[in-house]
Amino acid sequence: MYRPSKHIMVIFGASGDLTRRKLIPALGELQKLGLLPENFAVLGVGRSNYSDSSYRKMIAGHLEDPDPLIPLLYYHTMDTRSEEDFRGLAQRLELMSAELKINPSYLFYLATPPSLYETIPRLLSGAGLTTETGENFRRIIVEKPFGSDYDSAARLNRALLSQLEEHQVYRIDHYLGKETVQNVLVTRFSNGIFEPLWNSHFIHHVEITSAESLGVGTRGGYYDHSGALRDMLQNHLLQLVGLVAMEPPTVISSDAIRNEVLKVFQSLRPITGKAIGQQVIRGQYLASHVRGEAMKDYRSEEGVPADSRTETFVAMKLFIDNWRWGGVPFYIRTGKRLPTKVSEIVVHFKPSPHRLFCEHEGRTAVGNQLVIRIQPDEGILLKFGMKVQGAGFKVQDANLDFHYKDLSDSYIPEAYQRLLLDCMQGDSTLYTRGDAVEAAWRFVDPVLAAWKNEQSIPLHGYPCGTWGPEVADQMFEEEGYTWRYPCKNLADDGLYCEL
Ligand code: BG6
Repeated sequence: MYRPSKHIMVIFGASGDLTRRKLIPALGELQKLGLLPENFAVLGVGRSNYSDSSYRKMIAGHLEDPDPLIPLLYYHTMDTRSEEDFRGLAQRLELMSAELKINPSYLFYLATPPSLYETIPRLLSGAGLTTETGENFRRIIVEKPFGSDYDSAARLNRALLSQLEEHQVYRIDHYLGKETVQNVLVTRFSNGIFEPLWNSHFIHHVEITSAESLGVGTRGGYYDHSGALRDMLQNHLLQLVGLVAMEPPTVISSDAIRNEVLKVFQSLRPITGKAIGQQVIRGQYLASHVRGEAMKDYRSEEGVPADSRTETFVAMKLFIDNWRWGGVPFYIRTGKRLPTKVSEIVVHFKPSPHRLFCEHEGRTAVGNQLVIRIQPDEGILLKFGMKVQGAGFKVQDANLDFHYKDLSDSYIPEAYQRLLLDCMQGDSTLYTRGDAVEAAWRFVDPVLAAWKNEQSIPLHGYPCGTWGPEVADQMFEEEGYTWRYPCKNLADDGLYCEL
């Protein structure tokens, strides 16, 4: 691992939640690991009136341990809508570069409300801050949400690419920064035993779950305009689908990998008309008691209207119409206030067609399952049939279970750590490309439109601490199949109902 070249990172939204909770701690870790450039500084930018030292104090106050990054923090007060202030920013950066002996290479991080994602790059460009010269780079990281539908995402792409080249734009999807998500590629393509079976001849269906036990907390104002489909499925879950379903890239390079993910998105069978009601289930959490603790309903959360019809749960059955996956359903779901926090991919292999032990011992044929645990308890589990000791040929399920934590040198870096370092090194493999983001929006747009316009599509209530609306099980057409439930429902009470 080599250190990135000297540069200044400029964070717009420097006193915000994301900066304090994710960016600074991730940079601090990189600093501890000796992975930041020798000459490096972070310039926080915002309207709040901090000096360098009061900004350092404010950030330090939010961190548990003294962070080695604190002395590298600087602050610049400015209005992020003013052309003149951007000229001031350019001067400040020039001065800092000279004083700290840092090349004028700049990484701009947009940790602001999305309404500024078009304005800031335009004004940066106006102040001459986006032009790369010689070795000096100029890059922009854009936080999610990247648009709220296809049109807005395409507009944002156009706006960014009118000021910058694609190689300068880094669209973040922090799921791609997760170690276990990257391991999907390694599991598939470095092990000769999986890839020959990784297709519709041997795989019955694929399940992807990203569950959270928390509710929306203080983010109700944002979340109510987003909902689970926009907040999690359009980006994080579809990226996981892309990695599970893609063809092997010819090389490990940003373009080769992202080309294959794009092809998956382009092969998603559109879900339109009646299919929306059958293949997409939406839900919203209702009050209940979980292990004796009272949980309020979504509509009573701060910033959420009392008649909100925003979904906090979504389950979708989708198909990828290509030779590898034709006819294999992918079931994906995500939700808040579910029984536990877990993200996992489950590949269900077809049961053996030769029912040698089933009829004999009264056992129904069970397919092998490969469970890729993204978080927590990162690892891989393979379920297979094994003989019960003793007489006869009774078969029981056994687990071949690998946990990352069992490795003596196990160290799982936080997603932002990996992503920030990659951007500093100019590697965009784990960032989403504009065309893929647009293709993902194109796929979910008809569902968003139908939910908005057709009142007849139900919104199902589910008690906090359960696995979402019961009807989500009905998506499985074949008997004997349901979602894999990593743990039981935890609600002590509460009713399922239609809202
Ligand atoms: C974010 C969503 O992108 O991902 C949040 O906006 C969600 O609503 C979060 O809680 C989940 O991320 P993780 O890494 O905790 O699974």
